[in-house]
Amino acid sequence: MASAQKFQGLAPTPPMGWNSWNTFGTHIDEKLIHETADALVSSGMQAAGYNYIVIDDGWEADARNDRGDIVPDPKRFPGGMKALGEYLHSKGFKFGIHNCAGAKTCAGFPGGRGHEFQDARTYASWGVDYLKYDWCEHGTANAEETYKTMRDGLYAAGRPMVFSICEWGNNKPWLWGQDVGHLWRTTGDITDCYDCQDIYAMGWKYILKGQVGLEKYAGPDHWNDPDMLEVGNGKLSPAESRAHFSLWCIVAAPLIAGNDVRAMTAEVHDILTRKEVIAVDQDPLGKQGYQFMEHPAKEIWVRELSGGGWAVCFFNTSDSKTQMRVHWPYLSFLNGTYEIRDLWQGKNLGNTATDFVADIPTHDVILLKLSPVKKGTP
Ligand code: GLA
Repeated sequence: MASAQKFQGLAPTPPMGWNSWNTFGTHIDEKLIHETADALVSSGMQAAGYNYIVIDDGWEADARNDRGDIVPDPKRFPGGMKALGEYLHSKGFKFGIHNCAGAKTCAGFPGGRGHEFQDARTYASWGVDYLKYDWCEHGTANAEETYKTMRDGLYAAGRPMVFSICEWGNNKPWLWGQDVGHLWRTTGDITDCYDCQDIYAMGWKYILKGQVGLEKYAGPDHWNDPDMLEVGNGKLSPAESRAHFSLWCIVAAPLIAGNDVRAMTAEVHDILTRKEVIAVDQDPLGKQGYQFMEHPAKEIWVRELSGGGWAVCFFNTSDSKTQMRVHWPYLSFLNGTYEIRDLWQGKNLGNTATDFVADIPTHDVILLKLSPVKKGTP
């Protein structure tokens, strides 16, 4: 039925891009979005795959216009959203926007409740390619029904848009999201720390724990979303940033950068643009990885890749250096001998016929790609 489906094929691999929220909150305007687009191009981020620019909460005027249309704040977005979309498209980006399934957005701007079909038409008329739809002020609404209403609105408006369900995992969207959107948040908000947590936000390590077991729900066009990246926002060590990025790639997370890309250090840039690491996230097999082993000081996370390969991530969760010793047959999913490539070092390390031994600094990872060389027991 034309009114009861999502647009297919828009996210064969997890979406990549940039979102304004983690760094700028509601302090956003047209100039920031233009400068960010330009910086994504000149820094090579766009070429590395970051192609959605998503304007998060705070772009709206305080009230709808007299026809009930949602409108941008005239001071901060004086050129209007259609022109902004045209600018982004002219630079080769896709245009993303945020609003909310409830009566108001989390920052108190007009939400979409009761205006779903109207707003979908508005977004389509602006050339929007991606809608992140939040869950504040939802009252007694049922999540699945509410998100389906917006899905139908988008479909009826006729412009293919990635639909990003942002209801924080409250109603287990992995159980119903596949027919509704292309990705769904599995968690409350990420914040810029390693393992902290309070009722509003948590560090990436804390979020990662909550991803265990969700791998079976994800695949092409329907991804688990453990929230955006905090790489480059100042509080993570280089090791923690690398680990965050690596593990987001293992769990096939959307890679949505959340830093000020106009002012990136070389180190942050290097993490965010590492081709071989991004290739793990974007692997065409589209199978989310999983936690293979957990130990008080270390974890092993693995992801099956196309071509019979595996990504293997050794993660030192302890507060000091640890030694990782791996007898490869212990990784029971392997079948035969594999060549080993260290993706952060960009170096080949022999094969799995011999045990692997390496030190891992605190909160760091070793990310390997194993490629099959021959069948049989290693
Ligand atoms: C919620 C979402 C965040 C962000 C803010 C904006 O908290 O989970 O990602 O969009 O709203 O207010």
